[in-house]
Amino acid sequence: MKRLALVQIGHGTVGGDVIRQVVAQRAQWQEAFDLDVRIAAVAGRHGVVLIEDGGELSEGDLLNACERRGMSATGPALTEVVPAVGNADAVILMDASAGESATDALVAALDAGAGAVLSNKAPMALPLSDPRAVTLWDHARSGERLKYEATCGAGLPVISTLQTLLNTGDDVIEITAAASGTFGAIFSSVARGVPFSIAVADAKAAGYTEPDPRDDLSGLDVARKALILSRTMGRRVDLDEIEVESLVPESLADVSIETFMAGLGISNAEIGAQAAKAISERASLKYVATVTPDGDIAVGLRAVPLSTVLGALQGPENIFSFRTRRYDAYPTVVSGPGAGAAVTAAGMIGDALNLARDMVK
Ligand SMILES: NC(=O)c1ccc[n+]([C@@H]2O[C@H](COP(=O)([O-])OP(=O)(O)OC[C@H]3O[C@@H](n4cnc5c(N)ncnc54)[C@H](OP(=O)(O)O)[C@@H]3O)[C@@H](O)[C@H]2O)c1
Repeated sequence: MKRLALVQIGHGTVGGDVIRQVVAQRAQWQEAFDLDVRIAAVAGRHGVVLIEDGGELSEGDLLNACERRGMSATGPALTEVVPAVGNADAVILMDASAGESATDALVAALDAGAGAVLSNKAPMALPLSDPRAVTLWDHARSGERLKYEATCGAGLPVISTLQTLLNTGDDVIEITAAASGTFGAIFSSVARGVPFSIAVADAKAAGYTEPDPRDDLSGLDVARKALILSRTMGRRVDLDEIEVESLVPESLADVSIETFMAGLGISNAEIGAQAAKAISERASLKYVATVTPDGDIAVGLRAVPLSTVLGALQGPENIFSFRTRRYDAYPTVVSGPGAGAAVTAAGMIGDALNLARDMVK
């Protein structure tokens, strides 16, 4: 039986569920694929814990092992983790951390012959003047040792659909996407007449937003997804070339979260008027990413006709619509929940199993 060792970077919402799912599915994969998958190390902000016998431990034991050792540096530095993992035919780093700090470890792992799977968008959104970004995208384009399905639409088959369209000789005309569940929830409420500031407060209370809702309302998260889709299409673009409409009023950019929430009512009249105009034109307001093969890449508020699948979308669901030469009059569409621990973790594990097929033969 072939042995696949996973190094889990980040054991929060998504990473914790990766561990849970690996523990739960391990026996099935042994049977179905003749593949023994184990968690060989877990990394958090405080260091790396090697788990020699991770496969035999329950998910609770695994997480407890990390907690008990307080994520102290009992293991190697994350950039040195691949050679430290023994007893494996292939090693894959699973980046479910936040920010760019795992980038060096991802590059070192790829250089050492390991694989990488990301739900974390930040390393894939680094400027192309950074040689690490070039390395990551070289491996991503060859598809052999880096996969990043969960960076766009969580577990939805967004990147793989786009890659299949491109690999089979289709030409993308335009991708339009409602790629943020947070905006989806907010603007579905606004369409029902709820003032924007109340819709944001409700979305925050329901756990749809980041702790600081400005992290969502700035549009940066959607812009990163648009960038990743663009680069998947072969465009050599950086984040600063994307036109981003921020819904954070300038006067509230640098205040506390409480002051921001209390002051957001200043946007209600304008956004309410835009929503009413959209409704009068049989359209709905959506925060949309638009990506083309060589034109502008933009993310921002649009009035989208209700007659389209994008315009008719309600609630926090995501939708990615691919208009191509072959799917022109009726674009091919991928939609469903674009966030959540279980689906995002499953997206990462699906990537890891696909990589393993090439890496352990
Ligand atoms: N949640 C979703 O539905 C979803 C969907 C798609 C993509 N994503 C992406 O997936 C990633 C994880 O999301 P999440 O919701 O699981 O976040 P989370 O619950 O905040 O967990 C983040 C984890 O990353 C770890 N971490 C942070 N900085 C680190 C560093 N410098 N080195 C190593 N580990 C570090 C944290 O470690 P400590 O425990 O030590 O603080 C924590 O365990 C994010 O990049 C997010 O954008 C999430």
